[in-house]
Amino acid sequence: MGSHASRYEATLGKYTKQIDRAFAQARDKYDAHRRAEPILVEMARDPEVMPAVIAKHIAKWQTFNTKNFPSLGMNIAMSPHYVLVANAFFPLDEGPEDMMFNAIHHHGDLLLTTVNAFGPGYEHWVFGKARPIDLDKDLFEIPFQEKGIHTLYNAAFVDADQPHAVVYPKALTVTFALWASKKPVTWRDHVKRIRVLRGREKKLKDLALKLGLRKTLDLKVPEYFDYYPVPDSAGTTGFYGMRKRAQFERGPNEDYIQSFFNVLQETGNEKLLPFIFECIDGKKIDNPELVRRYAADVRAGKRIPNKYSEGIHTNVPHMNFRAAAVLKNLPKQNAA
Ligand SMILES: [Fe+2]
Repeated sequence: MGSHASRYEATLGKYTKQIDRAFAQARDKYDAHRRAEPILVEMARDPEVMPAVIAKHIAKWQTFNTKNFPSLGMNIAMSPHYVLVANAFFPLDEGPEDMMFNAIHHHGDLLLTTVNAFGPGYEHWVFGKARPIDLDKDLFEIPFQEKGIHTLYNAAFVDADQPHAVVYPKALTVTFALWASKKPVTWRDHVKRIRVLRGREKKLKDLALKLGLRKTLDLKVPEYFDYYPVPDSAGTTGFYGMRKRAQFERGPNEDYIQSFFNVLQETGNEKLLPFIFECIDGKKIDNPELVRRYAADVRAGKRIPNKYSEGIHTNVPHMNFRAAAVLKNLPKQNAA
């Protein structure tokens, strides 16, 4: 385990040290993102990095007890200034080609630089700020700005509060995503860091709000993060805003394991199979037989498809809608 672990740490450390320096020397967070972008592109182009990212993910044995989510995140680095993760986006087996992967959404005060490190990429739609039409009905007007394909090694910056949406990729696509609050380091940075680890951001936030720490801790609670096109039957056009964020639910661990092995196989990292068994040896794994079975399948060259959890990860109406429905609901004289 030692040799693998130290090798991936060295590979990733070479880049994260440069990103640390970018954040230390930058005038502000926007400048830091600008400086970090070429480093992320270099990472994406370095064939040693993807195996190192997956090895780091494997080294944390709890990975194998993770519950499923439509995308699969792997932590690369965390600091008080930023979080760097790899995100695997999976294709949709069936359904219209222009299906959206998630709602039209923004990330509040977080800045995002994303580089496509593996796969064909996905279509990315960018919008202007949502303008309320009728707040009693949560109805908004959202102007279209641009769309493009996030092709291999492409770098894209997503500004704070910038509404955007993603169409399902045609094949597995893995991005390296650098996140930072646009503000100087705040408690929020630390919460974000913890969230990636444990998914407890909401709990911490609720607790902080209960304690009346909202102002002190600089916790904003914006009302709307997610929007979806109004249905044809509504008799109006525009987009409904979600007053409360309704994320995808977590699915069974069995589905997660299947998707994890899909990522390992499709990125050509079969060589990491022995490392999995070194890392989970003696640990309390929920489905050890399944891990063994998929590992055997990968060794035998049997293809393992990705897995969306039944009934909760696809066809969620406020998340998965067609780009055609978005077009229909854009303000007049604002064709995409
Ligand atoms: Fe996003």
